[in-house]
Amino acid sequence: MLGAADVAAGGAQLASALDRALPLLAPEARRDGRLAAGGYLDLIGAQAPESTGVAQDLMVGRFVPTIYERWWRPALGRVVKGVFGPGMADEHRIARLLLGLSPGDGVLDVACGTGNFTRDFARSVGADGLVVGIDVSETMLTRAVADTRAAQLSDRAAFVRGDAAELPFLDSSFDAVCCFAALHLFADPMRALDRMTAVLTPGGRIAIFTSARGRSMPLRTFESVAEVRSGMRMFERDEVVKALEKRGFEDTQQRITGLTQFVGGRLG
Ligand SMILES: C[S@@+](CC[C@H](N)C(=O)[O-])C[C@H]1O[C@@H](n2cnc3c(N)ncnc32)[C@H](O)[C@@H]1O
Repeated sequence: MLGAADVAAGGAQLASALDRALPLLAPEARRDGRLAAGGYLDLIGAQAPESTGVAQDLMVGRFVPTIYERWWRPALGRVVKGVFGPGMADEHRIARLLLGLSPGDGVLDVACGTGNFTRDFARSVGADGLVVGIDVSETMLTRAVADTRAAQLSDRAAFVRGDAAELPFLDSSFDAVCCFAALHLFADPMRALDRMTAVLTPGGRIAIFTSARGRSMPLRTFESVAEVRSGMRMFERDEVVKALEKRGFEDTQQRITGLTQFVGGRLG
């Protein structure tokens, strides 16, 4: 079983955030987890979930993580959010608003990528808070750990390699869960929502940024073709809100922009 000493051996700077994250892990995750050379806790080893398509493959390769935050995410985001949609700084603001973070909160950033939002949340929750970023991509996580060390936030942000559909945390472990730009990549997004709901404390908040189908017929036809080619799912405009309400979320909010949507809610 993984203990604080093993974590410390993997990187002194990361020790305290990972130490504090360990009690949130399910016992089997603590038993099977290995500290990766990249400085994150690897819970899946060679058993990564099957790729859902090209979009997913790019995320686990070497190239995209190196340009992800600066070029890839802002440019692709602009295309799908539309010319008048929110920019990256607005996205960060929307996430913080939907999550309503306070100092001391525990936050889970599902499919955290290079940790661009994880670090932002780490600043909001302060030294008494804890943010855990989880992702399947080794290259994304290696970058996330390095950038988080450089930002001197390793005392409050830890990274775990795991599958969103099998979130390896105990129930009611987090005050807030974020899943931005990823739900449409998952093989089983509804199962991932089940797990996100389970790990939230009652009254906890969720924030999601994902795809939303257009209204017009020609656009919907284009989307269906793109969906098959990329492996990215296009959600119906009310699908995610309904899925959250079915799972007990209240005060749901939605903003649709271009082919995307921001959705938030509070677990009743
Ligand atoms: C477009 S990035 C989003 C990163 C960040 N949340 C953002 O908004 O910029 C999508 C991420 O989802 C991750 N991902 C895809 N499928 C996953 C799964 N089943 N479990 C965990 N992460 C997954 C990819 O590795 C990638 O890092």
